[in-house]
Amino acid sequence: MEKILVTSALTYANGPLHIGHVAGSYLNADIFVRYCKLKGKDVIYIGGTDDYGTPISIKAEEEGVEPRIIAERYNKSMKKDLDGLNIELDNFSGTSRPEHIKISQDFFTNLLEAGYVTKKALHQFYDEKHKRFLADRYVEGICPHCKSEGARGDQCDSCGKLIDSINLIDPKSKLSGEKPVIKETTHWYIDLPKFEKQLREWFQTKKYWKDNVLNFIMSWLNEGLIERAITRDLDWGIPIPLENTEGKVLYVWFDAPIGYISSTMEWAKKQGKPDLWKEYWLNPETKLIHFLGKDNIPFHTIIWPAMLSKQKDKYVLPYDVPANEFLNLEGQKMSTSKNWTVWVEDYMKYFDGEYLRYYLAANAPETKDSDFYWKDFQNKINNDLSNVLGNLANRTFVFAKKYFDGKIRRPEKHSKLSDKTLKESYKLVEFTDKSFNNYQVRKATKIVMDIARSGNKYFDETQPWNKIKTNKDTAEETLYVCTELLRMISIAFSPIIPKAMKELRKMMNLSEDFKWEDIKQIHENFEIGEVSPLFKKIEDAEIEKQLELLKATQIKEKEKMEHKPEITFEDFEKLEMRIVKILESENIPKSNKLLKLKVDIGGEERSVVAGISESYDPEELIGKKVAMLINLKPRKVMGVESQAMVLAAEDDGNFSVLVPHKNVKEGSEIS
Ligand code: MF3
Ligand code: ZN
Repeated sequence: MEKILVTSALTYANGPLHIGHVAGSYLNADIFVRYCKLKGKDVIYIGGTDDYGTPISIKAEEEGVEPRIIAERYNKSMKKDLDGLNIELDNFSGTSRPEHIKISQDFFTNLLEAGYVTKKALHQFYDEKHKRFLADRYVEGICPHCKSEGARGDQCDSCGKLIDSINLIDPKSKLSGEKPVIKETTHWYIDLPKFEKQLREWFQTKKYWKDNVLNFIMSWLNEGLIERAITRDLDWGIPIPLENTEGKVLYVWFDAPIGYISSTMEWAKKQGKPDLWKEYWLNPETKLIHFLGKDNIPFHTIIWPAMLSKQKDKYVLPYDVPANEFLNLEGQKMSTSKNWTVWVEDYMKYFDGEYLRYYLAANAPETKDSDFYWKDFQNKINNDLSNVLGNLANRTFVFAKKYFDGKIRRPEKHSKLSDKTLKESYKLVEFTDKSFNNYQVRKATKIVMDIARSGNKYFDETQPWNKIKTNKDTAEETLYVCTELLRMISIAFSPIIPKAMKELRKMMNLSEDFKWEDIKQIHENFEIGEVSPLFKKIEDAEIEKQLELLKATQIKEKEKMEHKPEITFEDFEKLEMRIVKILESENIPKSNKLLKLKVDIGGEERSVVAGISESYDPEELIGKKVAMLINLKPRKVMGVESQAMVLAAEDDGNFSVLVPHKNVKEGSEIS
């Protein structure tokens, strides 16, 4: 049987799962896999965490723990969050597990031996203070392509382009905050230009790929392929399998996609058939489908296929790479570093995972960026799930219980309207079949909801609450048609909201073991079991709370202290700070912030300009003893020479000068 191997981009294990990950690759892959399973296909869904690379080691350094601890922590937390959302991978591994090392090294060796890797000397940024080369995210600066600030040494978040860190404008080391120096090192490069012809031919066979993916690839090819370094000077990573290369590891983007293979190997082992992975990866008939966000396109469509094609084993190449665009939050670009996202673990404290699945499916960023708005989330859940689908189930089942003891028979003859309603729904379901197959989750979601909509309309038109008094059979016919629609929906919606559909099927006493093809199996008699509302409405207050929480995180972010680079004791000793006595104090005319002070620094007088007049009346200060820095180079401010600087604490624009806790004489040194 044809095999399908589905992957979700391995998430960096440097933080918990957020809705961007879910909308970018996890949910759409899960929906596709669930659909394939319903169709009886041989499919496995593989994923895990991307444990190496600078995102993880930087996080580890910030916390003062080993990178491995960070990787393990977030691997666990992501797995838990995925479970909470009913995203069911067949295996969720991590690239720091031992199984992953050897195969990654083999990939490198094979590519090298096949003549596609070259060694080169090059110049790299180096942090003098920390005595380290600054790989990837250890250096930040201005993007050489789009000139945005805050671009990282590997990729620019604003324009999405890959960056060679040495090209960053105005670079700063993330370790010391200082401008790095340039130093020579050696690295190994994958010779991408050598692959160009082969890749171009291969893309000719990929006309069915999504437009956004093909456009991205073409613009890459047309800019010209260049050699790319696949090694780094770092401690955290897979050592390169060559002699005398200490301190050099594989670039995270080299080993990460190999994680799809090592995760499949781990899966095979767990199945008790350690070679089973080969039936997927070393099988030219396998449909290998990589789900990912658009920033991952070049790695999966150019570098990864190039790597795969030069191995000793004959690996299957990607069949499709359905990349999603980005999900924004409340109209703004999502950003984990600014905490502008919704973390799944937080979401789960308040709402059902099914609601997020539904909203993100209905609103998937398939062809262009889409937005997560809390208000819109509420509307979609209340209007679609509750008022349309939940309502159809509830009104039908409650009525059936009340007047028919839950037993509904298929009528011998249908009215025209019933016939039309059923036929149209069968047709709609066929459309969803196509949509699911083409990864068009948005469309599938809309169509299935339309079936529920037509069910409600039909219920209203046939008025069973009136008919029950005059013609019981007609009322039963309505209930039959609506239940039959709900049965179809319970199958067609099960890839999107599996848990809710399980509940729905339970209410109809339908088996948990079903296939897509069952949709067309006309059901004869229904017996409704216990009935309860499928969905709960979301109240305004619940949404306001989320908006407040989001606002609160932003305020916290703003207040986060920005630290200056570390200094040595010798640096500190250069400062001469003393307690001085203020002798005179007056406003400087025409300035609204400045005071002119005369101070006694211990037998010597100085004139000082201080920008504190908004916080002090001049007289208030006369006679006070305060702290000053007195060896700052004198400068003229509004015509007055300032020969020292008053030390003051600022709180939201209010200044408070520092005074000694006990009485000390002027001139006392501060140390
Ligand atoms: N960790 C990468 C990211 O979050 C994705 C890696 S995908 C894989 O952007 F192919 F390398 F596994
Ligand atoms: Zn840019």
